[in-house]
Amino acid sequence: MKKPRKESSQKGREQIGLGTDSGTPGLAVYHLFGDAEVAGFRASLLSWYDRAKRDLPWRRRAAAEPDPDRRAYSVWVSEIMLQQTQVATVTGYYTKWMQKWPTLQDLAGATLEEVNELWAGLGYYSRGRRLQEGARKVVEELGGCVPRTAEMLQRLLPGVGRYTAGAIASIAFGQATGVVDGNVSRVLCRTRAIGADPGSPLVTQHLWSLAQQLVEPARPGDFNQAAMELGATVCTPRSPLCPECPVRDFCRAQKRVEREHEQTARTSRGSPERGTPLDVEECAPKNAAPCPLCLPPAQPWRQDLGVANFPRQPARKAPREQRAAVCVLQQPGSESGRFLLVQRPKSGLLAGLWEFPSVQAEGPEAVQRQALGKALRTWVDHPLPLRSLRHLGEVVHVFSHIRQTYVVYGLALAEPLQGLPPPGARWVTRTEFQAAAVPTAMKKVLRLFEGQRSGRGKASKRSPGPAASGRQLTLSAFLKPTSTP
Ligand code: ADE
Repeated sequence: MKKPRKESSQKGREQIGLGTDSGTPGLAVYHLFGDAEVAGFRASLLSWYDRAKRDLPWRRRAAAEPDPDRRAYSVWVSEIMLQQTQVATVTGYYTKWMQKWPTLQDLAGATLEEVNELWAGLGYYSRGRRLQEGARKVVEELGGCVPRTAEMLQRLLPGVGRYTAGAIASIAFGQATGVVDGNVSRVLCRTRAIGADPGSPLVTQHLWSLAQQLVEPARPGDFNQAAMELGATVCTPRSPLCPECPVRDFCRAQKRVEREHEQTARTSRGSPERGTPLDVEECAPKNAAPCPLCLPPAQPWRQDLGVANFPRQPARKAPREQRAAVCVLQQPGSESGRFLLVQRPKSGLLAGLWEFPSVQAEGPEAVQRQALGKALRTWVDHPLPLRSLRHLGEVVHVFSHIRQTYVVYGLALAEPLQGLPPPGARWVTRTEFQAAAVPTAMKKVLRLFEGQRSGRGKASKRSPGPAASGRQLTLSAFLKPTSTP
């Protein structure tokens, strides 16, 4: 990798200049790209992307699809799935989805239950529902024609925000519009040493303006995906691979690291005076007020983090703690019998998905058992041997903002039940359970139940009976919180 040329302060400023679309007025040159840099940045990033890009199903599809509406649909699905979900998880879901609903018309004709079934495990289930609402809108109200610009996509399609609209417009329609997602935000914060809160309105506005300035008009979709790809594979949050970075020469975070090293070396040699004069590698706002884009004074430079000093890590709010008591009710039958599932309300968290009957877990075990017994009686019109309700342990699952603990109980009936369940409830075999619109947390609950029944769980060693002791059994694997849906 070529070493970047050191520029003196004045020369650097002249060379950098302010791009025509450099956005927020009054910001120091240090946090902007000059016109001379833009061309180099674009070329380096795109030539790296052409060599290093991952072969992903939505890329192949978009490249091969001549019909613009079909192409937009294939990008739209991928971008919605990729919101808050890793590429590795999305690829399988994407392939299944496109096999089942290859066109907008196919998706518009699907039921919400089918959508939820396919989405099960991806999390943030409203994404699937809104994607389908969007498909219906295009088919029923827009004559099957996907809006052609980012502005119209965002205005007309449910669930399509600024980022998704820009991604579809640039990748499917070639509109020269920049985008900022989490990966791009990190790349831009590092390359322009932006240390202020990336979620603040000022930084957000600045990042979008940089993205718009940088996007290559001749290949906007590739450019945007290249920036995302760089953030996902090289400019990663904690251990970035700077020696492999194609835009290292344009990275002010990298320059700051080098300067800090020089400074430390000088200090250890006992000659702490500054060697290089102040130049464009440092922020020097005109007036003495602190720069609103720099690292805040309260967050001093940390040598151990290197370029990962940028972006500033926002203070994370602790997720809300919630507890629920849940019962796996099993009646005997072929396979491993049948399990009772009930449907969640049509709105709110996990809307319309199916789960084992549950209640809020408040108070001691005796209270939970009573509440669960009452809930079960609303679903099963048959006396239940509630004394046999076994306390099996706990499952922890982290939703976006909620840390949910399920206190798991099991009740295996000796005799099959007569009669049909009421609306909103159904009995499913194990195979049906796996294919149903069931959230990941319930799959963990079933694994705990099955582990206990087969004697694989630690709980099987418990004696006397778990319910009697009131101790909570924990299988370490299930206790480990995971932040999947
Ligand atoms: N993340 C969001 N969109 C993406 C894309 N098109 N390719 C890879 N990662 C992405």
